[in-house]
Amino acid sequence: MAELIPIYLMGKKYSVPEGSTILGAIEHAGYQLIRGCGCRGGFCGACATVYRVPGDHQIKVGLACQTQIEENMTLTILPSYPANKALYDLETVKDPVKALWQAYPEIFKCLGCSACTKICPQDIAVMDYIAGAKRGNLEQVAELSFDCIMCGLCASRCLAQMVPYNVAMMARRLYAKNTLVKPDYVLKRIEEVEQGNYKDEIDELIGKDIEELRKIYAGRDIEGI
Ligand code: FES
Repeated sequence: MAELIPIYLMGKKYSVPEGSTILGAIEHAGYQLIRGCGCRGGFCGACATVYRVPGDHQIKVGLACQTQIEENMTLTILPSYPANKALYDLETVKDPVKALWQAYPEIFKCLGCSACTKICPQDIAVMDYIAGAKRGNLEQVAELSFDCIMCGLCASRCLAQMVPYNVAMMARRLYAKNTLVKPDYVLKRIEEVEQGNYKDEIDELIGKDIEELRKIYAGRDIEGI
């Protein structure tokens, strides 16, 4: 049995097993997470958390599913952070860079404070990709932001009040649509699907219930390793 240590969840004190993740501690304390929890593996970005530890004035951040609790830490999960998202139609965009600038003109208000980069739990150079967006370098934005899991923490800290991850998502889409060459094998597979080559298999899957689908998924062949 692990020793119990005190932490403060949303302002209330709980005793939770030492060594737990924040997510585990929250559940041990009796909360059922229906928001602020998804993959439990550090990929979905649903569990962004802000916390402080005694003796350190700095606000810290982490993914609740990946961050271990510390004695007397105070924390709050941010299951979502308000974020405006531009509407656009990739099919009608003529000038990708101009489209990005028009959709998110606030990028030009960036103060270069780097708060976004410092808070990113994925260690993404957020401020650098916003600089790339201002220069119209979509490839740079796409490359630098590739590991973004859209947890929202950068938007929570931005002094210019922008939503960096939505800027990055649009840049990646524009870059993929207009610049990247589509792989031949993908085009071939799309053609095969459109010709109905896999219709029987697809119809069979559509007819199954969720439990059967889970079994098939879990038992699938996995390449590599
Ligand atoms: S639950 Fe998905 S990143 Fe933590």
